[in-house]
Amino acid sequence: MTDLLDLAPLSPMHETVRRPLYTETTTSQALYLPIAPPTLGTAGAIIGRELYSGKAFIYCPFSAFGDGLPGGNMIVMGDTGRGKSALTKTYAARQIRLGRQVVVLDTKEQKEREEGEWAALGRSLTGKAPVKFAPGGSRGASCINPMDPAIAGKRQVELVRTIVELGLGKALDEFAGSALRIAIRRAHQRAGELGRTPVLADVSAALRSPEESDATAKKRTRDELLGDGLEASYVLDRLCGSEQDATGDLTGMLDGPTSLGVDLDADMIVFDLTKVPSGGVAMTILVAVISVFLEEVWLRPLCECGTEPGQHNRVVVDANSGAWELGPNPGSGCRRYTQRKRILVCEEAWHILGTPQLASLLEKFLKFARGYGLSCIFIVHHLSDIDDSPETQAALKMADTIVIYSQKKAEAEATVARLGLPSWTAEHIMRLRRGIALWKVGEVIYPGVQHLLVEAEQHLCFSSGSMSDLTSTSPDAE
Ligand SMILES: Nc1ncnc2c1ncn2[C@@H]1O[C@H](COP(=O)(O)OP(=O)(O)O)[C@@H](O)[C@H]1O
Ligand SMILES: [Mg+2]
Repeated sequence: MTDLLDLAPLSPMHETVRRPLYTETTTSQALYLPIAPPTLGTAGAIIGRELYSGKAFIYCPFSAFGDGLPGGNMIVMGDTGRGKSALTKTYAARQIRLGRQVVVLDTKEQKEREEGEWAALGRSLTGKAPVKFAPGGSRGASCINPMDPAIAGKRQVELVRTIVELGLGKALDEFAGSALRIAIRRAHQRAGELGRTPVLADVSAALRSPEESDATAKKRTRDELLGDGLEASYVLDRLCGSEQDATGDLTGMLDGPTSLGVDLDADMIVFDLTKVPSGGVAMTILVAVISVFLEEVWLRPLCECGTEPGQHNRVVVDANSGAWELGPNPGSGCRRYTQRKRILVCEEAWHILGTPQLASLLEKFLKFARGYGLSCIFIVHHLSDIDDSPETQAALKMADTIVIYSQKKAEAEATVARLGLPSWTAEHIMRLRRGIALWKVGEVIYPGVQHLLVEAEQHLCFSSGSMSDLTSTSPDAE
């Protein structure tokens, strides 16, 4: 028996091994072509090439929409320095050439240029400087007022509630929520009587001075109503500071009337949030307020010719039912109303996707935005930055295109498990080189899409020279 065990075939030295299959690019192309997924058509922005089939890779959420792509939102993930921002920047610029408008929430400062990394691209496309936000306010810094009348009533209540909940770190109960709603209404009324726009400080003042009639209407005493809203008023005080105390997290950014030097018709608007501490509550709240503000003032219907729907003639398409559509605009010479498409880019989007309150606020935004032809792009490192709450899961599901650059082993495995990708993709993701990503568009996987930069775009995508002394930015330079 022992002799048997000593037999050579059972010895580990002679274990059966499968020989690796060596192929050349041409061989794998020949093998891959018959099973390669169909391309995404020829309309849209050129991304680069699909390495396995060698075909050009063209992507456009607006053209592919409905054709296997249920929605236009996208998540781009991967380790630092792999090419997430470079892809998003050139993609945005290429989409602008197709007539789209882009808004960017820029959160990463380029130390050597002392400005956000999207500033140069924004300036080269529009000639305009970014819209800056700075804690404490500074010369030229902007302020958005969450109580601005431009934000419609119900949405404003949701927004202020989100701000308080984020500041408090937990959800408000029914009593506190009701006290807050009453205070927002009172803040509008009291400021209106003084002939000015209410600000967040008016809400905290209203929470501390409830009216008898509001309490009675809710079958509460005045003191009970005061007690319901007192904690929320403390949170708003802490966030906004006061005349005596200018240390609030939101001071100079959200506590005053709106002062935005924004041209809402510009091809690209860059909001520079690089001075706002990353990972802090101020960043999260600021992103919430900016997105709701954009929803109210930027996402209005507009034709690609730049005119409003009301300026286009109605053309009856069916005399029986009276159905009509928007046709030509004699003023602009435009032949048919076509909704202008827009793109919102959120760098370091874990502020959004990683915060359940914000994720649920954004989910509503995304649903609403779809009707206005908006595609959102969220850039994150990996999904472990993002918690597993149902709100976040729902927000993740809103992304129908997922672009994954190289990640480390544990993160690649977590990504694959969480997104339900085939298990082979984990190892594949770890091996992707800079500028090459796995794309999942709807249900179709493109394992290797190489993003190509043309020379004119390279200096606009160069993100940091801090860690290298390379002069070349070619993907092969690693
Ligand atoms: N497809 C590409 N071709 C050439 N260079 C690239 C490509 N993608 C990224 N780079 C370069 O790599 C560097 C890091 O890219 P970046 O997009 O900033 O990474 P990330 O956003 O993932 O941290 C940049 O300097 C950029 O110019
Ligand atoms: Mg980046």
